[in-house]
Amino acid sequence: MGYSKSVFENALNKLYENRIDAEKKADKRRKEIYSKFPYVRELEHEIASCGVEAAKTVLRGGDVVSEMTKLKDKNLGLQKELKDILVQNGYDENVLEPRYSCEKCSDTGYYEDHGNTLMCTCLKQLLVKYACEELNRSAPLSLCTFESFKTDKYSDVKDTATGIVPRVHMEKILKFCKAYAQNFTTSSESVLMKGATGLGKTHLSLAIANEVIKRGYGVIYVSAPALLSKLEKEYFSRSSSDSDTTEMLSTCDLLIIDDLGTEFRTQFSVSQIYNIFNSRVLQGKPVIINTNLTMSELEKAYSDRFVSRINGAAQKLDFLGEDLRIRKK
Ligand SMILES: Nc1ncnc2c1ncn2[C@@H]1O[C@H](COP(=O)(O)OP(=O)(O)OP(=O)(O)O)[C@@H](O)[C@H]1O
Ligand SMILES: [Mg+2]
Ligand SMILES: [Zn+2]
Repeated sequence: MGYSKSVFENALNKLYENRIDAEKKADKRRKEIYSKFPYVRELEHEIASCGVEAAKTVLRGGDVVSEMTKLKDKNLGLQKELKDILVQNGYDENVLEPRYSCEKCSDTGYYEDHGNTLMCTCLKQLLVKYACEELNRSAPLSLCTFESFKTDKYSDVKDTATGIVPRVHMEKILKFCKAYAQNFTTSSESVLMKGATGLGKTHLSLAIANEVIKRGYGVIYVSAPALLSKLEKEYFSRSSSDSDTTEMLSTCDLLIIDDLGTEFRTQFSVSQIYNIFNSRVLQGKPVIINTNLTMSELEKAYSDRFVSRINGAAQKLDFLGEDLRIRKK
């Protein structure tokens, strides 16, 4: 698993900050309690000296076992006395201990299991989060929100051929996208946004990305041409690139591939697109794909297999109306 050095550093720094924060807060609580109940300080002092005494006993030799048992009993008695005092005064019995964000690893990122040191899920999640942020740095995320998406830009005149009113239709799409973002989970369905240029596909998919990121998920937004040139470079140079793109594409919570069909098409690109989509579908993880191509054009450009995968796994949204880029001018 290759995350870049800066992603690793950011994740470990975040854990370090959490740890220091928890310890500072515990120190603050301790000081408060000491000032109100000086006896608590004496008890803690005595507990600490039991530990020192134990070390001395071992070094001294002699009847180590019975000495240690006595010390252990004394220590347990003192601990109990301390907890009783705390509880009697309305505190939690662990009030003097730091409250780490992650109990499993005490915000260190690693824990011991049967003698093995393992990476904690909290560190893994941070790595995904920072790696997604790194990949998304070039995406215009902040401009496209649900609030800035206006449905009055679409015609309210019924299309005679289809009987559909674009504005009403786009209001439904907006509603669907909002609900999708609000109810997003890592097993949400995939979405195919298709339609002519300038109808708001990129805008709405970025609005979903914004909301889903806010809710703490790892999202990658990437355009098909950028994605494929990156994959091609990594594949053909076989360089040990510092970020493992393929791994990220398969592990992020939501993958958004924009402008599918505008990339330079080769056997390599066609098989990569299929593999990325297929591997996520097999894991039950969502992908949002945006394209100008129709279903039959997708079939021609990629494969029946790919299209039948999409048909089986994705909700299709048809964007209707006139190009909003032209109407703006
Ligand atoms: N309903 C909308 N309300 C406000 N702005 C919109 C709306 N739809 C699109 N826009 C704006 O119009 C421009 C074009 O929209 P967008 O890029 O989302 O279109 P698209 O469907 O992705 O087009 P393409 O297929 O060419 O990629 C963008 O600046 C976008 O923010
Ligand atoms: Mg677009
Ligand atoms: Zn942890």
